[in-house]
Amino acid sequence: MKNIGIIGTGHVGLVTGACFAKLGNNVICADNDSEKIKKLNQHILPFYEPGLNTIVEEEHKKERLLFTNSIEEVVKNSEVIFITVGTPSTENGKADLSYVEQVSIEIAKSLSNISKISSAKIYRLIVEKSTVPVLTGEWVKRTIELIVPTGIDFDIAANPEFLREGNAIKDFMEPDRIVVGTENERAKKIFQEIYSPIKSPIIFTDIKSAEIIKHASNSFLAMKISYINAISQICDKVGADIEMVAEGMGMDKRIGKSFLKAGIGYGGSCFPKDVKAFISIAKDIGYDFNLLKEVEHINKEQINIVIKKAQELLWNLKGKQIGILGLSFKPQTDDIRESPAIKIIQLLLKEDCIIKCYDPQAMENTKNILPNLIYCKTPYEVCKDSHLLIFATEWDEFKTLDFDKIKTLMKMPHIIDGRNFLDFKKLQKAGFIYKSIGKKTEGEK
Ligand code: UGA
Repeated sequence: MKNIGIIGTGHVGLVTGACFAKLGNNVICADNDSEKIKKLNQHILPFYEPGLNTIVEEEHKKERLLFTNSIEEVVKNSEVIFITVGTPSTENGKADLSYVEQVSIEIAKSLSNISKISSAKIYRLIVEKSTVPVLTGEWVKRTIELIVPTGIDFDIAANPEFLREGNAIKDFMEPDRIVVGTENERAKKIFQEIYSPIKSPIIFTDIKSAEIIKHASNSFLAMKISYINAISQICDKVGADIEMVAEGMGMDKRIGKSFLKAGIGYGGSCFPKDVKAFISIAKDIGYDFNLLKEVEHINKEQINIVIKKAQELLWNLKGKQIGILGLSFKPQTDDIRESPAIKIIQLLLKEDCIIKCYDPQAMENTKNILPNLIYCKTPYEVCKDSHLLIFATEWDEFKTLDFDKIKTLMKMPHIIDGRNFLDFKKLQKAGFIYKSIGKKTEGEK
């Protein structure tokens, strides 16, 4: 059992903190947003993540998971301190590391203050867990070294996270691997201890390699998605079936089945930002990452393909009512950052369409950026008088909709399945004209 501190209570920080508490550690999470901390103390979470609210409530009641505004409190009480603040994209695609820098300064100042009032020998392991470009660890170390007095013992390590939104607890508890960037024996032992209840392999690397593993992994997964989306365009043109192609490819163990689902492209707070940041850091160190530029380009194209398909179905888009089912960037989350659904809506609004929409979790977030859409309480309300339905997120509840009823509600029976997840035979039987992304559908032009 260790005393662990988390600085930044976004998705990564809160999941990490809650899970380490569940594993029996004493955890303090800090955030500079007082309102957020107040709500967390009442077990009100700032986002939706299945299962997280129960862990937060249970561990908080047991006092193994505490929340504070004070970084100094975290530094004072925690041997291991995870930095989990945001690293958003700047306008030119670089990762904005100013929050990481700020937190590093705060940690250093706190360490100095603590050393003044304590005669005990202090050691702290400071871990970057947010996604950061290679060489960030060196900057964090330098920043802290310049502030703390000599004699204070600390190490810097990288321990990138691989949590998926919507599946984060399982990803934390049962990861494929745990990556730790440190060459220091004392730090290695601490990581071995805190991760000992988790039965997954730990790979130890140097800090720079660990930093690259994270960007390279996310970019590789984004590349897999763009690759299959490019193939889906070829399938569309010749009438082949992307699902069959992906299955046939994925059975080759060297390729693997996952992340070969064609659709309207990747979104979220990670892939778009991380691909950009990787291109940018590569350029800074003298490598032109054209491969990843094409990954981005294909991803953007998937959105335009949906608009083109809508035009093929409706001729003129102006004045047409289009129902959007699914707003989050993927199911099991209320996150709409870089969501393909939102991008599609924005393009349709430019074409003067009327947009009705529904999502099981993401309506409130969408209202904040697009207040003038027609927000519906049920998917059926969306269908009423619509000329076209676009399924943009593959929520389970959409699979079991009563499509016969939907057909009677709609003005025209058109469906675009942006995630290739509906039973198209059933839809065609119900009389819909159905378009997908690269999937062979009888009757589709
Ligand atoms: C991603 C990574 O999967 C995590 O390992 C990583 O920790 C996380 O980023 C991060 O860096 O924090 P996440 O963004 O939560 O996780 O979501 P994914 O499940 O990876 O999906 C990303 C996007 O790709 C979604 O829009 C999804 O719809 C799309 N996708 C995924 C496809 O279009 N096709 C696929 O086959 C798979």
